[in-house]
Amino acid sequence: MYYRLKSHCALIEGAARGAIYDFRSGKVLSVNRGAVELLTACQQAPLDTLLDLQDPAVRPYLTFLDTLARRNLGSYYALNPPAAASQSEYVPAATLDFLWLEITSCCNNRCLHCYTASSPALQQGCVPHERWLSLISEAREQGATALQLIGGEPLLYPKWRELIGKAAEEAYDYIEIFTNATLIDEDCIRFFKHHNLYLATTIYAASADIHDRVTGNQGSFDKTMTAIKKILAAGIPLRIASILMKANETEAQNIIQLCRELGLPDTVPDVIRPTGRGDDDGLLPRHYHRPPVRPPFYTDRDSFRLAHFSHSCLSGKIAITADGDVLPCIFARDRIAGNILNRPLREVLSGAVLQETWNTTKDAIIKCRDCEYRYACSDCRPLAQSTDPDKRWCAPSPYCDYNPYTGQWN
Ligand SMILES: C[S@@+](CC[C@H](N)C(=O)[O-])C[C@H]1O[C@@H](n2cnc3c(N)ncnc32)[C@H](O)[C@@H]1O
Ligand code: SF4
Ligand code: SF4
Repeated sequence: MYYRLKSHCALIEGAARGAIYDFRSGKVLSVNRGAVELLTACQQAPLDTLLDLQDPAVRPYLTFLDTLARRNLGSYYALNPPAAASQSEYVPAATLDFLWLEITSCCNNRCLHCYTASSPALQQGCVPHERWLSLISEAREQGATALQLIGGEPLLYPKWRELIGKAAEEAYDYIEIFTNATLIDEDCIRFFKHHNLYLATTIYAASADIHDRVTGNQGSFDKTMTAIKKILAAGIPLRIASILMKANETEAQNIIQLCRELGLPDTVPDVIRPTGRGDDDGLLPRHYHRPPVRPPFYTDRDSFRLAHFSHSCLSGKIAITADGDVLPCIFARDRIAGNILNRPLREVLSGAVLQETWNTTKDAIIKCRDCEYRYACSDCRPLAQSTDPDKRWCAPSPYCDYNPYTGQWN
């Protein structure tokens, strides 16, 4: 008699425990070392040669296999079943999909935490307008389907409308502007609507005094809220971001409530990251914490396969700064992959920095590489790197208290 996991399941081994990934239910089931060894041995030999089925001492093992069979995760076979296809066969290399264009460093706000350190005092940047235009075409040729204009404050870039026009002409599927929404007038609303744009903006509080304290711009809350109402009234899709720090950490619930009143989906506030002006321990919230990494983990066959070859978040993305630097992410400010002022984008994309970044799987990350959840667990490399005392690219996540070497959550 033989025993195998079903073909919609995969067994992943960690240092102390293992996990069964069930692609049908999407669940990831933790199993102990004995279970990992038994299921692995079952791949090689009939069950009755591995265990003395009459011996009462092996009852717990059989009960475990029965339980898996009842849950449609495993099955007994009279004859040796054909070997299951690999669940992690090769996936072609990632190609460019999404780009952030930081079209200006300038901003009319001066937020306490801004990772680009933007303010009214900063200049626009040094990418010529013609280069932004050609870049939008070049990125499309390289496979990009989505872009976001961001900054600084993108509406302070004098010819932002031309960039949107170019992206529309190039038939990008998704075009978003991430704006502080203080400069939006009726004319902008008509333009957004005409080009089917997506918008994103940021709320730091449900009241003007706290929001304006974060933005350093008195009157910004009222302007942003007025614009949000106009955007919604025009039926333009809007995403709200919310970032918490010491100055506004008491506002998490109020912001969620405000979004509900506006008829927008709940936003999960994020905590400031230690980048740019945000790299200041004095800004950190004292009571609000980013939720830690915790089970349950979820999986599906495609993301499981991809997780063997590429980074679950970074792969296929780039950010281009107002100075032309190409970064893998807006938060990875020190990981410069090249500069588009002196090189074609195509060359930067195939360069070592970007390729290594896109291909950073959890098999390369300290601690995660020994964890059975590594193909289901999400990851933020820029966050792990920026909070690591030695700034290692493959540093473990600071928000995970799982110890894969003992199988214990601390
Ligand atoms: C840099 S801004 C640019 C777009 C626009 N000016 C705005 O503020 O909405 C984009 C987003 O990044 C967030 N952000 C800025 N600095 C950050 C930091 N240190 N950590 C986390 N998010 C940050 C802002 O709060 C905003 O939601
Ligand atoms: S977070 Fe946005 S609004 Fe605030 S200073 Fe930075 S770019 Fe300007
Ligand atoms: S962050 Fe790493 S160690 Fe923690 S659960 Fe996820 S994969 Fe495992």
